[in-house]
Formats: sequence, structure tokens, C-alpha cells
Amino acid sequence: MHLARARSDPDALESSPSFLAAHKPPLIAFTSAHSHYSLKKSVVLLGLGRRALRLVPCDDHGRMRPKTLAALIHEAIDAGQRPFFVNATAGTTVLGAFDPFLEIADLCAQHGLWLHIDGTFGASALLSPSQRWRLDGAARADSLSWNLHKMLGITQHCAALLVRRPGQLRPAFAASADYLFQPDKPHAELDSGDLTFQCARRNDVFKAWFCWKARGEAALAARVDHGVELAALAARRIESDPRFALAAPPSWVNVCFWWVPPHLRPLDRTHPEFHAHLHPIAPRDQGPPLG
Ligand SMILES: Cc1ncc(COP(=O)(O)O)c(C=O)c1O
Repeated sequence: MHLARARSDPDALESSPSFLAAHKPPLIAFTSAHSHYSLKKSVVLLGLGRRALRLVPCDDHGRMRPKTLAALIHEAIDAGQRPFFVNATAGTTVLGAFDPFLEIADLCAQHGLWLHIDGTFGASALLSPSQRWRLDGAARADSLSWNLHKMLGITQHCAALLVRRPGQLRPAFAASADYLFQPDKPHAELDSGDLTFQCARRNDVFKAWFCWKARGEAALAARVDHGVELAALAARRIESDPRFALAAPPSWVNVCFWWVPPHLRPLDRTHPEFHAHLHPIAPRDQGPPLG
């Protein structure tokens, strides 16, 4: 989001957001209602404020509705605001939904918006020939985040940010700390110090490279496929057992389900209060063993 803002508003690197707000229409970011809470933190940390983030409603599978996104973009423009950034999620935390990237990428291209894909969870699908369709259209993103520790068995943490135009990193992040990041030292092009927000950190990419070398692409793909197969198996078993009920259609490696108390079996989803009965069960931390 910082890169997107630096592209839309290079002045933001020099002046405070409140000074700019007095001179320019406010910047607006979009993300789905099911996306990760870190987006809410980002608008606060960038000084844009929570009201700068529009939560786009989702369908029953937890995917962003692109028509609603289009309407919200137009609404912001009509209100004299400046849309600048869309976050689309590959693998939402709870439902495992993949947003419709092709349609979202079209909208971003049409309005000149930065498209970020939060693939922290689901970008690992790209490793599997049978699963990568889930990210169709994601190749058009300006940036993509990927946590390799989530699916690939790499120890926490191992996180990557891939950007389409690496040349945008230095102007947005460099702070002229030449005592560390001397531009004329050997292999200065490999020094990431001026390209990120952070300073001294562990070398995550070494773990990613080492794991890739040690296991090979086929083993990583098999690991992803195995996760998807286990989720499908779990969903089938839950569906055939009256003690449990699926809380949402399974997607990716996510299977959300309830334990159904004996007096509600088999679960009647048409009952107006079935959700109110089931919801308090999962947070319960004591009581008799569940039957
Ligand atoms: C969809 C999604 N995005 C982002 C995050 C957070 O990633 P990080 O721990 O790298 O901040 C998570 C969960 O950890 C997630 O599920």
C-alpha cells in the first residue's frame, strides 16, 4: 500500500498526510469484507485513516463482488475522492476464498489503480499444476505477498513480497543510509536494505531457496495437492456425519464446520435460530466432553 501511495502521491514521501489532505482529494483503498485485518492497520499506519478503506461485500463463498467494487469506485470518484489501491485476496483466512482476479484486474487497469494480491495463504497454489487456476488473472497484479511458511512446511517465518516493477522500491524506501548500503560496494545490487521497510532481519529468502532446492518443485506441488485432498476428505466425512455440519462451502484447504449438539441433530438449516444455537459452542472452553 505504501508503494501504491508513493506512485499515486509522490508528495506523500515528503509531506504529512494531513498537509496533503488540505490540498488534494483523499486517497481511497478497497479490499473485500473477508480480507485480512492487516489492511485496516495499513491505512492507519500510512496516515490515511480507517475511513480511507472501503470493505467490498462478498458472495456466499467469501469472494469479492467485482460489480460492487466497480460501484464503490465510481461512488468514491463521484464524491471527489481518489481511488488508488485494491487488495484482492488469494485464500482468505477463514473461508479460503480466491477473489475473481481477472475482473478485478480489468477494473484496476480501467481506473489506474494499484492491484495488490494478498497471497500470503493461497499463493502456494501456484506451485501446483492442478491448483494454479485459482490465481488466474493474478499475474496482472502490481504486487503479491506470499507466506511460504503457511503451506510449504518452512519454519516461521518466510514471507515474500513480489513486485512487478522493482525500480519502484528504492524511491519509496531508501533513506540514504550510505554507511550501510553503500551504492559503490561490490554486489550493491543484491543489498535489499534500501528496498524494504525493515532494517536488520533474518534472511527469509535463503530458507525459501534451500527448501526449493532440497525438496524440488514436484514435492512442493504434491504438498499443496495433499492439503487440498485432505480438506476434501474432511468435508466429505463431515457431510456424512450428523454430529457435524459444514458452516460454509469448502474451498481450497479450508473446511469450516460446527459440532451439532444432540438435540439439534440432524441440523435443520431452515430453522431461524440454528445459527444462534451453534455459534456459542466453538468458543466454549469447559463443560462435558462433546458427543
Ligand atoms: C489472508 C492473510 N493475509 C495476511 C495474513 C498475515 O500475514 P503476516 O503474518 O505475514 O502479516 C494472514 C495470516 O497470517 C492471512 O491469512
